Amino acid sequence: MSTLTFGIIKPDAVRAGNQGKIIDRIVANGFKIRGMKLIHQTTKQAEGFYAVHAGKGFFGELTEFMSSGPCVVLALEKDGAVKAWRDLMGATNPAEAAEGTLRKDFASSIGENAVHGSDSDENAAVEISYFFSKLELV
Ligand code: RTP
Ligand code: MG
Repeated sequence: MSTLTFGIIKPDAVRAGNQGKIIDRIVANGFKIRGMKLIHQTTKQAEGFYAVHAGKGFFGELTEFMSSGPCVVLALEKDGAVKAWRDLMGATNPAEAAEGTLRKDFASSIGENAVHGSDSDENAAVEISYFFSKLELV
């Protein structure tokens, strides 16, 4: 069944000029882009988005990084979109990411790992509505 997931091309990938290549790979892998925009989050917005990780050792580093520059936020549609997008992203730690995944090709470390993807249909809906209004989704 065709479903939606939420993705981010993180600030490291945008800084490196890899956003176009990553969008190419998204389209080539059969995702339909239902929403897309360039944003620069405040630290507060990043803290809200990653609230589930509040209290973990890497939280400060993560939210500082996510607000360190522009990123591309995406609403992506495909059959089983959540898993399909996580499969294309690869493992959180790029050292463990499989050949052909985005993190293998574009991520430099576990902290600066190029892309984000929702981990469930429920969280995908929450995350899409955190960044997109109805008018911004096609
Ligand atoms: P994401 O949420 O960004 O798609 O990544 P994920 O599901 O693969 O990983 P998750 O466990 O949700 O962690 C969120 C992000 O936090 C950073 N992180 N740093 N230094 C560390 O040990 C560490 N662990 C996680 C990563 O940027 C990860 O993507
Ligand atoms: Mg996650």
